[in-house]
Amino acid sequence: MTAINPILIIGKSGKTGVRVDALLRSKGFATRPVSRSTHPVFDWTQPDTWSPALQGVKQAYVSYHPDLAMPDAETTLRAFIETARSQGVEHLVLLSGRGEDGAIRAENALIESGLRWNVVRASWFFQNFSESFLTESVIAGELTLPVGDVKEPFVDCDDIAEVAVAALTDQTLSNRLFEVTGPELLTFAECVAIISGIAGRHIEYKQVPLEPYLGYLREQGLNEGELWLLRELFTQVLDGRNSYVTHGVEEALGRPPRRFTDFVKTALAMGAWERHQQTQAIL
Ligand SMILES: NC(=O)c1ccc[n+]([C@@H]2O[C@H](COP(=O)([O-])OP(=O)(O)OC[C@H]3O[C@@H](n4cnc5c(N)ncnc54)[C@H](OP(=O)(O)O)[C@@H]3O)[C@@H](O)[C@H]2O)c1
Repeated sequence: MTAINPILIIGKSGKTGVRVDALLRSKGFATRPVSRSTHPVFDWTQPDTWSPALQGVKQAYVSYHPDLAMPDAETTLRAFIETARSQGVEHLVLLSGRGEDGAIRAENALIESGLRWNVVRASWFFQNFSESFLTESVIAGELTLPVGDVKEPFVDCDDIAEVAVAALTDQTLSNRLFEVTGPELLTFAECVAIISGIAGRHIEYKQVPLEPYLGYLREQGLNEGELWLLRELFTQVLDGRNSYVTHGVEEALGRPPRRFTDFVKTALAMGAWERHQQTQAIL
């Protein structure tokens, strides 16, 4: 299933998509990574772009944008699954988030679809600090969030990608949900302290109330959908319900997940927090 049937990767340049793509190619699989900026184009908001991207595809890695927690995600995903099925797709691997009602509804849409399926349900990513909306704050030396002492088992996107690739390439893992977290519970302040210690420079963590935080982001130009999602993440996902580790990485790969300190050393060596490397949006 290599040259004739490329594995579709939705979210080409995303934190996980780029890793899934690189790993599959390194193993000799043909891939078709897609997003709004590829040919063929794939846009979640433009269903007529889905069929061309699915041509000749039997398997796909599906990362939804912006988040399965969004109110319209389940409906969009159901429509996508039906399009995929009608074009002969046999197996979908869906990236999901923990503790989100919308994500569970979307997972169920896939699990009940009759297609071969996997769900990789992940905790907050390590790479939010190095490749995403927290990066600029880390570089600036001050991270401000509406989160206190809640502990989160942050996970490495390299582990997520390895689990997704295992699911795509090993049929014995099919029809299973892998709930993947890192090996330890950390607060945002503890993460920042670890980055600060390893990088050897002062980075401060400040907690602020939610409403002024969202008000500030509204002034910065975030739209109502983006603000809704942040409210959902900071009130639902980070209310303590996810403060436990799970063993999805071991279950899929037979080894423990990577530690945050190892991620920080690698990210630092790769220049993740050097100012010239960063062009990230807020979301
Ligand atoms: N961050 C976390 O801590 C976390 C934790 C658990 C689960 N998740 C889930 O992870 C998923 C995001 O995955 P990720 O972090 O790997 O991706 P990401 O880094 O958010 O990257 C977004 C990717 O999606 C593409 N994209 C943006 N808008 C799109 C659209 N309308 N249609 C098609 N593609 C679009 C972008 O490329 P273009 O700009 O070229 O389109 C880019 O390739 C979300 O579903 C989220 O719920 C995230």
